Amino acid sequence: MTTSPIAHFNGQLMPLDRISISPLDRGFIFGDGVYEVIPVYGGAPLRAREHFERLQRSMDEIRLKNPHTVEEWVRLTEELLKHHPGNQSVYIQVTRGAPPKRDHVIPRDLAPTVFMMANPLASPSREQIANGVACVTAQDFRWEKCHIKSTSLLGNVLARQISADVGATETILLRDGRLTEASASNVFVVKNGVVAAAPRDNLILLGITYDLLVRLAEEGAIKLEVRPISESEVRSADEIWLTSSTKEVLAVTTLDGEPVGGGKPGPLFKRMHALFQEHKAQARKARVAA
Ligand code: PDD
Repeated sequence: MTTSPIAHFNGQLMPLDRISISPLDRGFIFGDGVYEVIPVYGGAPLRAREHFERLQRSMDEIRLKNPHTVEEWVRLTEELLKHHPGNQSVYIQVTRGAPPKRDHVIPRDLAPTVFMMANPLASPSREQIANGVACVTAQDFRWEKCHIKSTSLLGNVLARQISADVGATETILLRDGRLTEASASNVFVVKNGVVAAAPRDNLILLGITYDLLVRLAEEGAIKLEVRPISESEVRSADEIWLTSSTKEVLAVTTLDGEPVGGGKPGPLFKRMHALFQEHKAQARKARVAA
């Protein structure tokens, strides 16, 4: 008999298969909710506060009252993690709750639905780190509020499927001739030893990993610019990287079937990947010592 993993539902820990949610929940009816994904290494969540601060910003954007403070969220995460040792990804979703009827208008004073689960973290394989991954490009047909980490992910799902259909790892998105991000990751490009990242605006999700990379670049004296990036810069880049809480930093070595730079993970990727691993190890050590 396999036991159902422990999850969090509206303030309680319980087996995942015992959780039931109303079909009138606005998360189900409208995709009216927000979420976070936090990587956990050896029991230690990486940048949990930053994730919960972004959750707050997402909630502010959709006018949803946060049922918990950052401290409470951190504690709830730790309680869930007692049942899930090792490397995990914690998924947190808050929807606007279940009103008595379907109505687009935002109901007042509705209790939100809170759901959290942990799954073994699927980090990139050694092979993916050593050889990089394939990506394809597509037009960014999503809405104009991509900075909200919304559970309304149909645009991202359809974008991701474009790469999945051809066996590629991600779909890199272009809007009006400029790079935005990928279906579930941020994108960095490198040319002549300089890294560039798309602006922190409403057209991308500001990744917690994106922000960490900007910091690591600064500390590691890697030149990095945050600015609009044209499609031709993407296509002529020496290196392209994907970043996310589950992918960490990953080199893109083919784009639409063409090699990126030399077709192998580049020297700046290797430096950034090493800085990232070092940061992870230090964050874990600091927590064990605390
Ligand atoms: N995705 N952009 C999009 C559209 C994303 O969905 C994600 C993360 C990112 C990277 O953000 P971060 O570095 O904070 O993980 C950028 C998560 C992992 C997901 O939906 O599963």
